[in-house]
Amino acid sequence: MPRPVVADRRPVQRRRPRGEADPPGLAPRRAALRLIDAILRRGDPLDVAMHAAAQGLTGADRAFAVAIVSEALRWMTDIDALIDGATAQPLPDDVKSRAVLRIALAQLLVLKSPGHAVVSTALPLVDGGPRRLVHAILSRAQQEAWQLPDRATLPPPAAERWSAQWGTAIVDAAAAGWSAPPPIDLSFATEPGADEWPDAVALAPRHRRLPRGQAVEAMPGFAEGGWWVQDLAASLPARLLGAGDGRTIFDLCAAPGGKTMQLAAAGWAVTAVDASAKRLERLRANLARTGLAADIVQGDIRTWEPDATADAVLLDAPCSATGIFRRHPDVLHRIEARQIEEMAALQAELLARAARWVRPGGTLVYATCSLERAEGEDQIAAFLKGHKGWTIDALRAGELPPAIAPDPAGCIRTLPGQLADAGGLDGFFIARLRAPSV
Ligand SMILES: C[S@@+](CC[C@H](N)C(=O)[O-])C[C@H]1O[C@@H](n2cnc3c(N)ncnc32)[C@H](O)[C@@H]1O
Repeated sequence: MPRPVVADRRPVQRRRPRGEADPPGLAPRRAALRLIDAILRRGDPLDVAMHAAAQGLTGADRAFAVAIVSEALRWMTDIDALIDGATAQPLPDDVKSRAVLRIALAQLLVLKSPGHAVVSTALPLVDGGPRRLVHAILSRAQQEAWQLPDRATLPPPAAERWSAQWGTAIVDAAAAGWSAPPPIDLSFATEPGADEWPDAVALAPRHRRLPRGQAVEAMPGFAEGGWWVQDLAASLPARLLGAGDGRTIFDLCAAPGGKTMQLAAAGWAVTAVDASAKRLERLRANLARTGLAADIVQGDIRTWEPDATADAVLLDAPCSATGIFRRHPDVLHRIEARQIEEMAALQAELLARAARWVRPGGTLVYATCSLERAEGEDQIAAFLKGHKGWTIDALRAGELPPAIAPDPAGCIRTLPGQLADAGGLDGFFIARLRAPSV
């Protein structure tokens, strides 16, 4: 039985003298440490934390910092178990040395970075903390060839919530999906030729799935703009609206514009509305790259008013984003029951406003990338109770990609485990609603 590493009670280790050069590769690891702190302590989303933490980094270093943090978050419960098994007393959750060990062990055990590089860049990050302890744990990890389990353990609050809502089989499938970054899905403005994208799998019209690990901007046709990255599940809401034939649609909560591009490509006259100027910049850039057109409005849907109703409205509501946990491993460490309740209240408000802007007999599609009933099924049940004459415009199997079936109410609920053999699917809820005709 190996002896536990005893918490280091010796005087604080020396800091590196001023002027001593950083070991190579320190900058992305330092950024990774700042990122994990912003996510776990402040509850910031990874992409928001990135702006501050990655100032001055090269593109490659930014990508490395994101990879380190993503794997540290994905495997955090299992990495913590290894750390706790090696120390005589558990390290407090919020000490820097635990954060340094989390990112160092993610490099060592998941990204398979060379041990000497991991150790030499971890120790300076402890910065006045117990360097000997960190050094001892990282040495043991290498000497004893520590391994992670086959499947990463989901953060317990998410596992408990999903077990209560969907059952243990879905929790198992979610853990399998959580254990590795998902593949890349592309949506196309028009169907690509049969001989293009030979390594890709087509799971729906104008869709191709590629193995993970390619730099998107280096992929063929990026500059020409014939495609954009969009999970297959995220492409479903716009698919349910069919061809636009010049009809009008309000794409609410539109940025960065995945659905705006689908709708514009399908012939809708799109007004894309979003509250965030920064995210609308990305929508503008996406439209410019793909050569697609939409009217763009910066506005908060709680106060914005259109001049006239539209033939259709798509509300891709802000939500907990727990359905996209595979791509955003920070989500399950940040989202708690309280935020889900707050989001559900906001969604009810936005849905009620969106419904006022649909012409009589028109269509309203409501979507969230959430695995919480409160943001999906329950939201629509409450809406129908409070909005006389509105109905679910039930989906028919032929309208959907082959592997996706409507739920008993005629809506879509995608869950972990669907399309597992082909690389899985993000968790979404989508309802197509019909407005009363008068
Ligand atoms: C799920 S994302 C939208 C993704 C987008 N539809 C796509 O397909 O690329 C939600 C968006 O809602 C926006 N949002 C949140 N609250 C809003 C509000 N009150 N009014 C307008 N937009 C809002 C956010 O800025 C964010 O861009």
